[in-house]
Amino acid sequence: MEPAKEEESSVQDEAVDKSNFKNCNHIAFYSKTTAQKKEDTSTDSSQENQEDLGLWQEEFGSFLDIKANGPSSIGLDFSLHGCEHVYGIPEHAETLLLKNTSDNDAYRLFNLDVYGHKIQDKMGIYGSVPFLLAHKPNRTAGIFWLNSSETLVEINTKAVMEHVPSRSPPDITKQRVVPQTDVHWMSESGIIDVFLLMGPTPFDIFKQYAQLTGTQALPPLFSLGYHQCRWNYEDEQDVKAVDAGFDEHDIPYDVIWLDIEHTEGKRYFTWDKKKFQNPKRMQELLKRKKRKLVVIIDPHIKVDPMYTLYSQAKKNGYFVKDRKGQDFEGICWPGSSSYLDFTNPEVREWYADQFAFKSYKGSTDILFVWNDMNEPSVFKGAELTMQRDAVHHGNWEHREVHNLYGFYQQMATAEGLIKRSRGQNRPFVLTRSFFAGSQKYGAVWTGDNVAEWSYLKISIPMLLTISIAGISFCGADVGGFIGDPEPELLVRWYQAGAYQPFFRGHANIESKRREPWLFGDENTRIIREAIRERYTLLPYLYSLFYRAHTTAEPVMRPLWVEFPKEQETFGVEDEYMLGNALLVHPVIEQEATTVNVLLPGSDEVWYDLRRFRRLDYPGTLKIPVTLESIPVFQRGGSVVPLKTTVGRSTEWMTDISYELRVALDSKDFAVGELYLDDEHSFQYLHKKQFLHRKFTFHKNVFSSSCADEIGQYHTKCVVERVLILGVQKQPTSVTASLQGKRDGKDKEVVFTYDAKTSTLTLEKLLLNVGDDWKIHIK
Ligand code: NOJ
Repeated sequence: MEPAKEEESSVQDEAVDKSNFKNCNHIAFYSKTTAQKKEDTSTDSSQENQEDLGLWQEEFGSFLDIKANGPSSIGLDFSLHGCEHVYGIPEHAETLLLKNTSDNDAYRLFNLDVYGHKIQDKMGIYGSVPFLLAHKPNRTAGIFWLNSSETLVEINTKAVMEHVPSRSPPDITKQRVVPQTDVHWMSESGIIDVFLLMGPTPFDIFKQYAQLTGTQALPPLFSLGYHQCRWNYEDEQDVKAVDAGFDEHDIPYDVIWLDIEHTEGKRYFTWDKKKFQNPKRMQELLKRKKRKLVVIIDPHIKVDPMYTLYSQAKKNGYFVKDRKGQDFEGICWPGSSSYLDFTNPEVREWYADQFAFKSYKGSTDILFVWNDMNEPSVFKGAELTMQRDAVHHGNWEHREVHNLYGFYQQMATAEGLIKRSRGQNRPFVLTRSFFAGSQKYGAVWTGDNVAEWSYLKISIPMLLTISIAGISFCGADVGGFIGDPEPELLVRWYQAGAYQPFFRGHANIESKRREPWLFGDENTRIIREAIRERYTLLPYLYSLFYRAHTTAEPVMRPLWVEFPKEQETFGVEDEYMLGNALLVHPVIEQEATTVNVLLPGSDEVWYDLRRFRRLDYPGTLKIPVTLESIPVFQRGGSVVPLKTTVGRSTEWMTDISYELRVALDSKDFAVGELYLDDEHSFQYLHKKQFLHRKFTFHKNVFSSSCADEIGQYHTKCVVERVLILGVQKQPTSVTASLQGKRDGKDKEVVFTYDAKTSTLTLEKLLLNVGDDWKIHIK
């Protein structure tokens, strides 16, 4: 990989950052600062020429963008030799594999509020991560273009001739055709600050990128449960009724959400007094049910001197300014609004303090936060966002920091939630706008999608792209936000969402009600099944998040990440891996009766997760499906921890026993792990209160051992059941022994063997999950 040529008007002065990250080359060229540029050119007659040419200002419809520091743009080309597969640079409603661009359809990174955005489109939507991954069978590389102004990325894959040195005869060189992808980055302003990550494996790239931007925050367990949202749950009564509906229909859920209508005239941090007369009472009810509340808090602040948040921020000079130095005013939900300047650390600190229980009246410790409209969305603004010539803290123009606005709001919100618990509890904050590093502060979702099959389909490559750009905790609105999904689409969306990291049903204010029990008994049953499956899977998912948190492995990953040498996986975007053990192929076609599933790896063994059928001849299989099917396959060689049953929410499930699902590979081997802690606090970090267990099946012995001696956590929870898939013959005896215990005698284990599926089931085990033990199969 090599930088080819410098573009446009930037001046490369000197490499200013010599920090040497292991395995990644950091190139930082400062172009002269925009202020310097102005100084330099002030004595130059070319400024006048430029002004004549109108380069110092630009019109966008009726909007005028004054470029106080003059015109600028920076760019750099890279040639990726031997690569024809490139990925990343979210957020676009596009394919996983990046496409070649022509002159006018570069991938745009510019955070915008686009209601019902188009699909198969390279326009900028809510978030931006300027990180591109290139992959070929023996190497993955990355380019991280650290710039938060509007950025365009052009991609051109072509075939080039390469010289191959040959020994005989010595003076003749041969030529061969190899692919090459040229990537051209251009940003409106700022500096060239680019990191080349050298891999060589995809997992090395994830680690290298995380060294620069951080890893996924470990979410509190409840936030991996199911979330029920709509714009809007009307009032306290409505919240109670929906909450009760889940119990009546025996559907687990963890969180109910309140959208903008819960506030007093869209003044965030307040409650509509008529609809929510007693928010604490409502939260107490939810708390008794072991559930949580999420409320929306947008970054725009209603211009209203009687609104304390506004008057304080105004007095302290905490709003973004217009080019004349006045508080920037734009229109958003509350009408005329000003926008907090989250780029200012003082503003972030003040904002974080607003979440203190004594400041945020009616809030309790089960209330968590949703940051929306933070691109920022400015109705009637150019492209529905803030003027680029608005001015932030330190005199930075908005154009320089545009893509960072939402990032900073989420950062301040997460800090606020941590602070209110005196550093004890992990926050949960969902954001619509994001940038490189947003993973440190919570979750993202893909914004205003539509209740159509094509949006269900595109949600998979969108989430995969966000995931490999470092943000594991991501999801799409289940059901599609805009419009009314037909029951079949809703059911399919629940099934897909159940196997994606962030799982929330949400609907627009104009959409009909769509709580999961409103579509007839049969559909309710199937949705219930999907949500219950999600809840049994939580130990596995939580363990995956621990890995994302500690070693930067994406929770949801494209097939090529797990099978980097298998070319046929490189373009697959209708199925994916959840961790390294589960392959998920959600049904995303209307009235599907079959799906074509690629089970990669010539020496892999796969098992159908529902019927335990062993699939020894991987390749593309046509799998019959009904409306109930969620095609999920477990990879031979893995152990997946599950809960044996579900509860009304995650908090009801803490003591529910585990099932370990062991899938043997062709060498009768399997390995897996389980992470657990108190599910909500920072004790895992500060006091090392956690358990990290390793399970190994080898030579007919299944053992549980400690994966990390530093972690200590007391739990009463037991492993009750072990299912071993791929056992070729019925054992004559199975015994279990506790290691290092005085009464560590072998105990007989109750087992059944199903010859048809080659499944050995061990039951009533009662082996403490924190103990070392061995199960011998003879
Ligand atoms: C736009 C968001 O994308 C959507 O999820 C939300 O319901 C509305 N804003 C209203 O707050």
